[in-house]
This record gives sequence, structure tokens and C-alpha cells, in this order.
Amino acid sequence: MTLIDGKATAATIKAEIKQEVERIVAAGGKRPHLAAILVGHDGGSETYVNNKVRACEECGFRSTLLRFEDDLSEAALLAEVDKLNANEDIDGFIVQLPLPRHIDEQKVIEAIDPKKDVDGFHPINVGRMAIGLPAFISATPKGILELLRRYQVKTSGKKCVILGRSNIVGKPMAQLMLQKSGGDATVVVCHSHSPQLAEECRSADIIIAAIGQPAFVKADMVKPGAVVIDVGTTRVPDASRARGFRLQGDVDFETVAPKCSLITPVPGGVGPMTICMLMQNTLEAAKRL
Ligand code: GUN
Repeated sequence: MTLIDGKATAATIKAEIKQEVERIVAAGGKRPHLAAILVGHDGGSETYVNNKVRACEECGFRSTLLRFEDDLSEAALLAEVDKLNANEDIDGFIVQLPLPRHIDEQKVIEAIDPKKDVDGFHPINVGRMAIGLPAFISATPKGILELLRRYQVKTSGKKCVILGRSNIVGKPMAQLMLQKSGGDATVVVCHSHSPQLAEECRSADIIIAAIGQPAFVKADMVKPGAVVIDVGTTRVPDASRARGFRLQGDVDFETVAPKCSLITPVPGGVGPMTICMLMQNTLEAAKRL
């Protein structure tokens, strides 16, 4: 069994990005600039956004964090999005999700200029990606594809089972694994109402688990030699940790890992790649403008 080291892979890619940025700047080009909007004080979101700001520094980008209290009105947030759309100094930006319940997330996503939508959440980018046109691709599925490539996992003609159908991971992952220029795999998407879920998993060469249920994938659901990618990051209480919790993936790592040819750990697998792909999207946005 080989552990897929997302942390090391992400560090390599960030170093590659930094090199390219310094080349661009030395040639008189513009340093990429990412902005992030954070509304409220969700613990997970605070951590993610801080990590994104730190990754910008590592890549030689500029970053701007715009923070608002959770009573920010939808109209005020849409006005902030408009300002970033019009700000020529900002190459790309994200609005960290989830948003407070009084704000319509979809309305906010659709207000973002698709050319600056480095999260790849705007329907224009989702649609372009789905038919194989150049687009900003959602960072988590893009990072998974990159991990599979860098670890030389053969995906063409293989059976890939994706657990979960979220707009951010499951659905775009299915599209990317399906595409001839992407995974070129046979793709099955399972979710909470799939009666044959365990059987489908047992016949999979590659399992991508993104259902947000801690330790859901058990050893008896995995074919010997399968490649298992774990997207789950549920915070479970753990008194032995200083923070009082640990991150638990969707895969029961201890029992599943010995059966796999390759597996991602949690943390240190998919997570670091996600932020790294956001950096790659931001670099692309900067080069396009
Ligand atoms: N919340 C969880 N994941 C993401 C992400 O990739 N982008 C944004 N904007 N919010 C998130």
C-alpha cells in the first residue's frame, strides 16, 4: 500500500507556481492577486480562509481578505462582489461558503464574474467544464485529478465509483473522471439513496469518497488493490487533541488502507491539494487578464 502524500505534492506544485510568478514579475508582469470574502465566524471557514491567505504568500501572490459580520445583508454582499468584479487589480476572488442562512448562496455565486471565479462555482464555468471547454475547475476535484496523474494512477477504462453528488465535489468529479481528456473512466455516482452502494464500491478500481460521513467506507466495501481517495473532513470530538477535535475522513482508514494499492490520508491527502489548485486557478486568471 502506498500513501498518497497530498501535502508533499501540494508543496511541490506551490514551489512551481512561485517560480512561474517570479518569472512573470521579473519580466515586468503583474503579481497575481486573490481576494477572499469571509462572512461570519464559522470555525472551519476561518481555518480554510487563513490557509488560503498563507498559500498566497507561499506562491508569491498578493491577497486581500474582506471580513464581514454574519448580519451582513445579501444586498451588501452582492455590492462587495460587484466591487471585486470591477476592481482591475484583483485577478480572482472567492466567497467562502457556507454563507449565513439569510443569504442566497446561488445568487451570490452567479453574481461573480466568471472570469474571476477561481472557485469554478459559476454555472458558466461548471457548464464549460462539463463539455470539456477551458474553464475554472472546482479546486477539490481538480486536485484529485492532479494527485491521480502525479501518482501515475491509470484511470482510462477503469471503473470509478464516486460517493456523493455535491455541486462542489461529487458532480464535477464525475464529469472530470468521465471526460476523454480527463479520467476517461467508467463512472458511477452513488449517494444516500443508492441501494447498491456497497456492491458498486466492491467492483470499483477507484473509489472517491465525498459524502461527509465519518469512516463510512469499510474494508468489506473495497476491492483488493483499489485506489481510494478520501475527501471527508468531519471534525469529531477528541479529548486527546489540544483543539478538542480531529479530522475524520469518509474512509475507515485503519481497516481499508491495508487492502488498497494507493490511499489518501486525512489530513494530508486531498485537503492540501484543494488550496493548491485554487492557487493554480488564480495564476491562470492573472495570466488571462
Ligand atoms: N467551502 C468549502 N469548500 C469551499 C471552497 O472550495 N470554496 C469556497 N468558496 N467555500 C468553500
